[in-house]
Amino acid sequence: MWMWDGEFCGSIGFRWQPGTTELPSYCLGHVGYSVVPWKRGRGYATRALQLLLPHAREERLAHIGVTTYASNVASRRVIEANGGVVVERFYKPKE
Ligand SMILES: CC(C)(COP(=O)(O)OP(=O)(O)OC[C@H]1O[C@@H](n2cnc3c(N)ncnc32)[C@H](O)[C@@H]1OP(=O)(O)O)[C@@H](O)C(=O)NCCC(=O)NCCS
Repeated sequence: MWMWDGEFCGSIGFRWQPGTTELPSYCLGHVGYSVVPWKRGRGYATRALQLLLPHAREERLAHIGVTTYASNVASRRVIEANGGVVVERFYKPKE
């Protein structure tokens, strides 16, 4: 889905499989998002994740997983602002 404030701001994607919270091993999370550099810091990613959560509830997912680099402070703040908690830390598998 696109983030839009009268023009394109970024996108947020929701990945899931019907009837389960499980994801294929190559998929590191249910949600991915990105905001264009010139529109960052306006709360758009935080709001986008907030608006996406009801869709996850509609799909009856028990939880959603969002993966980010520990060094990605902005993304961590987006997750935490939406009630996210750290479940595990791991090294990204080599591709
Ligand atoms: C991560 C990203 C989506 C955040 O988008 P955004 O719209 O700027 O985020 P918000 O405006 O909702 O800000 C979220 C929080 O991060 C903070 N933040 C924003 N940019 C920051 C930065 N460069 N350094 C530290 N904190 C930052 C904000 O202050 C806010 O914190 P607060 O709630 O405590 O005030 C954006 O930086 C981005 O597109 N990064 C590249 C792609 C990426 O990393 N995607 C996530 C992959 S998991």
